[in-house]
Amino acid sequence: MGGTEGFVADLLGRMTLQEKIGQLGLFAAGEGPATGQAGGPALGELIAAGQVGSVFGTKSFDTVARFQEIALKESRLGIPLLFAEDVIHGHRTLFPLPIGLASSFDMALVEETAEAAAAEAAAEGIHQAYAPMLDLCRDARWGRVAESPGEDPWLAARYAEAMVRGFQGPDLRAPGRLAACLKHFVGYGAPMGGRDYDAASIAPHELFDAYAEPFRAGVAAGAVSVMAGFHALNGVPMHAHRALIEGWLRGVCGLEGVVVADYTAIRELQAHGIGGRDAVTVQALLAGVDLDMISGDYLACLPRLAETGIADAESGTAASAQEIVAAIEAAAGRVLALKHRLGLFDDPYRGATRAGAAAAPLRPETRALARRAASASAVLLENAGALPLAESGQTIALIGPLADDRSNMLGTWAVSGDPQAAVTIREGLAASANTVLCAKGCNLVEDPAVVDRLNFVPGTVSPDPRAEAEMIAEAVEMAARADVVVAVIGEAKEHSGEAGSRAELDIPAPQRRLFAALRETGKPLVAVVLAGRPLMLGDVAAAADATVLAWFAGTEMGNGLADLLYGRAEPTARLAVSLPAHPGQVPFHHGASETGRPWPGEWRKFTTGYLDLPGEQHPARGLYPFGYGLAYTRFALGAPVVERAMLAGPEESVAVRVPVENTGARAGTAVVQLYVTDPVARIQRPAQELKGIARLTLAPGAAGEAAFTLTRDDLAYSLPRPDGSVERVWDPGRFILRAGLNARDTASVEVDWRP
Ligand code: NOJ
Repeated sequence: MGGTEGFVADLLGRMTLQEKIGQLGLFAAGEGPATGQAGGPALGELIAAGQVGSVFGTKSFDTVARFQEIALKESRLGIPLLFAEDVIHGHRTLFPLPIGLASSFDMALVEETAEAAAAEAAAEGIHQAYAPMLDLCRDARWGRVAESPGEDPWLAARYAEAMVRGFQGPDLRAPGRLAACLKHFVGYGAPMGGRDYDAASIAPHELFDAYAEPFRAGVAAGAVSVMAGFHALNGVPMHAHRALIEGWLRGVCGLEGVVVADYTAIRELQAHGIGGRDAVTVQALLAGVDLDMISGDYLACLPRLAETGIADAESGTAASAQEIVAAIEAAAGRVLALKHRLGLFDDPYRGATRAGAAAAPLRPETRALARRAASASAVLLENAGALPLAESGQTIALIGPLADDRSNMLGTWAVSGDPQAAVTIREGLAASANTVLCAKGCNLVEDPAVVDRLNFVPGTVSPDPRAEAEMIAEAVEMAARADVVVAVIGEAKEHSGEAGSRAELDIPAPQRRLFAALRETGKPLVAVVLAGRPLMLGDVAAAADATVLAWFAGTEMGNGLADLLYGRAEPTARLAVSLPAHPGQVPFHHGASETGRPWPGEWRKFTTGYLDLPGEQHPARGLYPFGYGLAYTRFALGAPVVERAMLAGPEESVAVRVPVENTGARAGTAVVQLYVTDPVARIQRPAQELKGIARLTLAPGAAGEAAFTLTRDDLAYSLPRPDGSVERVWDPGRFILRAGLNARDTASVEVDWRP
């Protein structure tokens, strides 16, 4: 036995049971936001007593060094601490929100941002990122869609791989790398009613083919940790879900790393109603949750339970003392193995120094990447010719509460970012030979109770004391003096993110009134929407001459957006999530299966839709489909062509080619998407599944071909067995291959795939 295994076995052999339990303790440094109950004995004392394995939320190298020195010098065995942080979409330099990064449809770019974020965080002594967040979300009410790669399992799986590669690189020990932590396992993005933390009910085939797929891909890409979700899935709180954590994640997917609890979530198992403190602590441990974030219940209860065992009839929790000791040993072994794989026993700082930490943040090359990512994540929804804007000789009236705002640009979960380092949209547009006039026009929201909740992160919204009529009048007067009006409207950054659920999916009311007044001026009107979720944008897009959904794009938002609006960058982003027509239709997604009475039906009323949601739109497909986004040029796509329409045998793959032509007057990038429909199978299959993306940059008038290879594995799905488990199968026969520039407008070809 050598390497990590031998090292860990030797170390475990020298540790007391209490020290092993100590390795499972994960506490906050106290420098970040407390999103739940915190407190307890001073962290330094606990570390010295060997009762802490990991610390998260440090905000400087000095804090890391202070705690690490205590662990190394004052604890009996001097085992180094593991430092973690929420490096969600950047660290000091913020990149666009994950929903924006996923909307770039550019996984090389996603990987670059993760690598840059890892370098900034590792330079400060951080070892593990609590990212990527991989919760598929089909319900725009759920605020954490901001942190998610959107609605589609294939895209989310590619995003997972890119993020893991970007964080961990080929060698986890190398300087500048971080351990990735896939979260929140699993189905956390499907809470009832879109309410954060609420329970999810997901059928087995959907669970494994959709919600779990990005986790499978992330583990296969080498991710060394996973965080469990706060929620209950199909009646079992995830922190006690032994079948999915021990059984599927470790047993089937082969996760070799640690499973981290979310914030006080082990203690919260009591509120879920599955037992008292002792019972839930044992359930979490046996489920395979290694690190107890904040609750301290592993520390408090396990030493005793390891002597007594537990037999609790009410909750059905039964474990012998030996079983508990073995589970503690296994969990501590995994924590120590991760520390060893990261190289912490050779260098607990992994090369980080005070000087290095001071030089790492906000380097010009990282900012340049953030600028590129900001323009690459903004989706052009409509353009009647108002964009791109001329770079000189124009007077632009830049109006809206977010037009010259610094505090919101970074977006939610930017815990180490400095809003003061952010470039505002006014600053970005003003760096041109244009005249940029700027006014707020109205307040972002009007309800003081909402203002108060948004200001959980201080300064998110600062209400202007002026009357709204006065602010609108100022904006309208400015618009009258301008050649073009750019209205920057949307949500505050804290409208989305954790506990950022909304019942309405509209632009807040004061901004709708402002927008209507600007439309009245008759000036060319460009709407730039900032949001952390797929908002209902039909009215805005119908009234504006061009509409851009820019999400929150990070430190370089102003510059990146200016690049896009001025046409220095081409719009290449495509929606990673469908935009709803109405909040009443969520949840939905582009792959939702058809019903027995599909819309539009022959029977006037008896069809799958809404009586009060009129229009030509499919009622369950949204207003703007997944994969949608315009360029400044136009593309014509031919139907997909297959090399053979008849295939036989399990080894087969088929080459699919899609002719593309740039029919516009500018160069641009076509983002061609390949979807597959399995029209007849043993169970009802999704209406379509994304299976590939091809990006083609073409000069005006140029033609090319998007090339895809579809394998038999792409046709496989999870067939539920009677016991609730699933088997991976495929059903030979007809398959429809659809190619398009979005999930709705596709042309197809059929193949017959024989057994
Ligand atoms: C709670 C969030 O759910 C999780 O994503 C985050 O990593 C932890 N808090 C730590 O901040």
